[in-house]
Amino acid sequence: MLSDVDLKKKAVGEKAVEDIQDGMTIGLGSGSTVYWMLKRLGEKVQEGIKVSGVPSSVRTENWAKEFGVPLTDFSEVNRLDLAIDGADEIDPNFNLIKGGGGSLLREKIVNQAADRFVVVADESKLVEELGAFPLPIEVVQFGWELTAKHLESLGCNPELRKKDGDVFVTNNQNYILDCQFNSITEPEKLHEEIKSLVGVVETGLFFNMTNQVLIGEEQGVKVLSR
Ligand code: A5P
Repeated sequence: MLSDVDLKKKAVGEKAVEDIQDGMTIGLGSGSTVYWMLKRLGEKVQEGIKVSGVPSSVRTENWAKEFGVPLTDFSEVNRLDLAIDGADEIDPNFNLIKGGGGSLLREKIVNQAADRFVVVADESKLVEELGAFPLPIEVVQFGWELTAKHLESLGCNPELRKKDGDVFVTNNQNYILDCQFNSITEPEKLHEEIKSLVGVVETGLFFNMTNQVLIGEEQGVKVLSR
């Protein structure tokens, strides 16, 4: 049986598929909310809709294959009609923290290539200010200890991400440093500061990108637009 949170994720993931039209090329985000979007999209494909998707992680690619969603990549397309992805935190200006699943770099490449970017999340992801969720930062493996020290000087406490006791390695063969900032008042400025550090590949701060947020709540799905 699904938990309350999973029911909200399912409702919002399925709702996002209503935006998908015949002929679209879609950015397929990552995470457990996107799972439900992919499952429903697979059903629509069985019903006859013609779409193709660019996956933002190996896990998403595997789910898309399982559900029969046709895939493509950036050797074949250079713009996407729509991208749908989850988030770890969403502020009132639609700034996001992403990367809880470790796919932030591919997610950013995919979402930036879309004419329209829709975020799907349960209501626990809405925050007044970003930063309670540790900011995931993708860094190259070589010298990660030095990169962590430089990040520390920006006012956070970087933790090398581990999974099942081993160091977590991204789909791009990099590491993730999870950085607890507590309060991020200027996401764009912080992103620029972090990106200027040698060794940093990408940050989990997403801004000036989101067109719409779909939120799964007790009462149903709330649509936030700008
Ligand atoms: C993956 O790297 C993340 O950015 C996810 O999109 C984010 O963690 C949301 O995941 P859930 O939908 O599982 O909450």
